[in-house]
Amino acid sequence: MSVLGICGSPRENGSTARLVHEALAGAAGEGAATEYLHLETLNIRPCTGCMGCRETARCVVDDGMTAYYAAIERNRPPLGLVIGTPIYFDHISAQLKAWLDRHYCYSYTAKGERMFPPGYRAALVITYDWDNPSAYDSALEWLAQRLEFYHAIQVIAKIALPNATACAPDCQPDILRQAREAGRLLARG
Ligand SMILES: Cc1cc2nc3c(=O)[nH]c(=O)nc-3n(C[C@H](O)[C@H](O)[C@H](O)COP(=O)(O)O)c2cc1C
Repeated sequence: MSVLGICGSPRENGSTARLVHEALAGAAGEGAATEYLHLETLNIRPCTGCMGCRETARCVVDDGMTAYYAAIERNRPPLGLVIGTPIYFDHISAQLKAWLDRHYCYSYTAKGERMFPPGYRAALVITYDWDNPSAYDSALEWLAQRLEFYHAIQVIAKIALPNATACAPDCQPDILRQAREAGRLLARG
């Protein structure tokens, strides 16, 4: 696995999944191996705040995140993540927030070391129904900053799909192109 797609929409065949797959297709076209994780199907529980990870830098909860932790840690050299979410009430989905919170084990150990595997880059995708193309730039920016600041993940693309229900990705070819190009960029390293 070299480029990992993470879909934070509960809908398996929605707009977010379509764009994440499009980015992965771009990466595969450049010869990268790809893997796709649908967070809802993995049934990732929210962080319980148990602080078990403060001692070991490992999350002590064994659920769908275990497969994700293993995937990013065996990815050498790391190429990238494609992270997608629908906008729910002006922000990322609960599924993606649970995934993000479960990175607490990578934030800092008791010694203050940064623990997320180094060298990752990411492309971000949001989808929503409002027809304003910049309506949720703040949500994209918020997510990018969390990844960059806490985990040193370099965000190389921020893609927004407005008007998603009325005009799903297939009738917005420019957005599809952006997703495919982001996948290509991730694969080129
Ligand atoms: C609970 C819920 C909250 C939503 N909130 C917003 C919102 O605040 N702004 C917006 O433009 N669309 C909102 N939407 C619409 C979705 O963001 C949009 O349909 C999205 O593209 C769905 O992605 P999917 O097809 O990948 O599931 C909401 C949808 C749901 C179900």
